[in-house]
Amino acid sequence: MNTPIPSKLTQSPAWKALQAHQAEIARVHMRELFAREPSRAREFSLAAGALLLDYSKHRLTGTTLALLTNLARQADVEGWRARMFSGEHINASEDRAVLHVALRSALEVFPAGRDVMPLVRKARQGMRAFSEAVRGGRLLGHTGKRMRSVINIGIGGSDLGPRMLTQALWRHADAPQSVHFVANADPDDLARALAQARPETTLFIVASKTFTTGETLANANLAKAWLAKALGSETAVKQHFAAVTANTEAAAAFGIAPELCLPLWDWVGGRYSVWSSVGLPVAIAIGMDRFEQLLAGARAMDEHFLSAPLEANMPVLLALLGIWYANFFGAESHAVLPYAEALRELPAYLQQLEMESNGKSVDRDGQPVDYATVPVVWGSVGTNSQHAFHQMLHQGTHLVPCDFLVPVATTGAAAENALAQAAALMAGKDASLPQRRFDGNRPSSTILFKAIDPHTMGQLLALYEHKVFVQGIIWNVNSFDQWGVELGKEIARTLAAQPAGGGAIPGLDASTNALLARLRDWRR
Ligand code: F6P
Repeated sequence: MNTPIPSKLTQSPAWKALQAHQAEIARVHMRELFAREPSRAREFSLAAGALLLDYSKHRLTGTTLALLTNLARQADVEGWRARMFSGEHINASEDRAVLHVALRSALEVFPAGRDVMPLVRKARQGMRAFSEAVRGGRLLGHTGKRMRSVINIGIGGSDLGPRMLTQALWRHADAPQSVHFVANADPDDLARALAQARPETTLFIVASKTFTTGETLANANLAKAWLAKALGSETAVKQHFAAVTANTEAAAAFGIAPELCLPLWDWVGGRYSVWSSVGLPVAIAIGMDRFEQLLAGARAMDEHFLSAPLEANMPVLLALLGIWYANFFGAESHAVLPYAEALRELPAYLQQLEMESNGKSVDRDGQPVDYATVPVVWGSVGTNSQHAFHQMLHQGTHLVPCDFLVPVATTGAAAENALAQAAALMAGKDASLPQRRFDGNRPSSTILFKAIDPHTMGQLLALYEHKVFVQGIIWNVNSFDQWGVELGKEIARTLAAQPAGGGAIPGLDASTNALLARLRDWRR
């Protein structure tokens, strides 16, 4: 990594004011803040749509928030927000607009000057027609049978969103089909999905924006061979495969019928694409009407993000809280703790959203940054997580800010457990034996919502999308490219192309060459 020179950000008055303020706050325990400010819980909570954010259990005061919003203003978050929503090419390194918000827009024309809504409406109609044909048993396989299993083959943004939502909304699913997800380059993943499926009644959706992703194409080819072997015909592919892609030529070359090819566009990033045809497996599982509710929920959060003042803007607050700990307390990770089995896949989804977006160490001008960007995002469902790693959250040496995501409609005591954890992290407990002492003063946000339904999930996911956007603007990085994933892919291609028994690969380090030789040897 190049040595960074002092950036405009760290030299700025807003940054320096926060550094000075942190030195004061660092000495204060949150217990003291609660004792001092009787209205703290009310003052530091905010409702937006179905979500209630309590951010009172943070190491901050009104002054902290004023200084943090100054930082957001200094970075011109409002100006950049307007630029994104107007379709400017804010993804500069790829010269692309960033218009996933159009996918949930209800506007006739959006954005002004480069209206994409005709494309969006047509795609939504296509998704409705397709999902209804599958659900209604009108899409028939090669032997005239209805589809019973839907297997989505995709990875990253073409997998994590629909996988997570299908799981999250399982109580709303009423399709006669079972829906499965295959992502891994390890063929075991596909093998497990195929084990429960019958070729005559299986529909594959190959979801790949580029239609060049190695894992997805390998799995799609294996699935094709499985189908052709069972049905004795290559032409069966046309009846059993659909695609979601921006690369229609490649999908056609694979053998996918044009009418079963749903669109995507370069102005939708993979990790922001669940609102597009990439959401097709979700629409099949829950029906297009409910999928539209998901879009409406996201739209409600977009409207909040666009109109609420920064001080009362939920995505902006979440972003600023993250920055407060990452940049001023040196927190290197952030835990996401959904207290609902249905939200099991959410941490993985948010990992891609946050870390692929803001895991950058050069700024928009290509200069190395002299400040931390996105922390490690990790987590798991409560209450399981309590019996796995909460020991470290309570008594470990790392400061790990947490997001407790708490749907209140779940039965059992999951929600109460979430509140208890947040209370314990904040207040701590004294004890004569040091091992039994809880220092407390460990920050968390609690996001409470009534139920896990499509509208609420739309709000929740859009909340995090905009949080990531705001952080990217303040950190001055491009949140919408992901060049960091390329080098590993390139080397993997070189390794895979090396014939068994081939010598060392020139230019490759000695360790990797030795491991490759051993791997080939053991495989023999
Ligand atoms: O390699 C990372 C990535 O490019 C992600 O950004 C993306 O979501 C994923 O691969 C899948 O890409 P595609 O949809 O083009 O197959």
